[in-house]
Amino acid sequence: MDTSTFGIPLFDEAHAALAEQIQALMDGPDAEFEANLAALIDCLETDFRVEEELMEAIDYPALRSHREQHARVLATLHALTPGDLQAGRRVASLILPWFQLHLATADTALAIALQVAGRAANPAPPGLHQPPAAAASPAPAA
Ligand SMILES: [Fe+2]
Repeated sequence: MDTSTFGIPLFDEAHAALAEQIQALMDGPDAEFEANLAALIDCLETDFRVEEELMEAIDYPALRSHREQHARVLATLHALTPGDLQAGRRVASLILPWFQLHLATADTALAIALQVAGRAANPAPPGLHQPPAAAASPAPAA
């Protein structure tokens, strides 16, 4: 699965873990569906909580709409009837496209806002226009 990276380690690791959980839910056997669903919900709740704490920390203007997107997904997953594999698998098939759209829109906007907020909090010294990680990286071999 292609998941874009934001260059924010916490974000990227959390999203990679989520992508793995979604894949496990979709590809796993019926006997493991409930356990895989519980693991995905745990992973989503952790990821969403981290994002929402970051949004609060920077007083993010789109916090409410972003949080609402998270809440709708969790509400849908929590509303599934245990043992109803047909409904569970139908919902599971919708999570991946939702996740990809959410990454490409809401999470990307948040990542940009976090990077801007980080730069505002730690402005580069005069004359230094590269972020520290780029400035410290060796030039690629020709
Ligand atoms: Fe998000």
